[in-house]
Amino acid sequence: MIGPLNHVGIAVPSIEEAAQVYRDLYGATDITEAGEMMEQGVRFCFVNLPNSQIELIEPLGENSPIKNFLAKNPKGGQHHVCFEVEDIHAAKAEMEAKGATVLNEPRIGAHGTLIIFVHPKNSNGVLIELMETPKHS
Ligand code: CO
Repeated sequence: MIGPLNHVGIAVPSIEEAAQVYRDLYGATDITEAGEMMEQGVRFCFVNLPNSQIELIEPLGENSPIKNFLAKNPKGGQHHVCFEVEDIHAAKAEMEAKGATVLNEPRIGAHGTLIIFVHPKNSNGVLIELMETPKHS
């Protein structure tokens, strides 16, 4: 069973330019420094909001999985929605038992906890990220 909405992922050509939009147009003040996940092919930062986060993601490297998405959506677009779960391995087993397609083995995500992605075909066209709730929160 899914828990809180953790973040909404937005793929963009430049996280710095996108962060500026959230600052200038929407008045967001709490935006994290950019991080890199080389093996996942993304640069990222978070726009912190009172109840959630926007995750801005930008392609990193030649084989970035976001490259195709940006080829179809050159200005960027909503890429995934992330919900928290207690136990990622249990969540993966449950998803697969229910016939869903889990796209990866659990791996460390941008929050430092284990994540999986569930294929958009299983959720009305929306790519769903599941992440283990950080233990300190
Ligand atoms: Co995410």
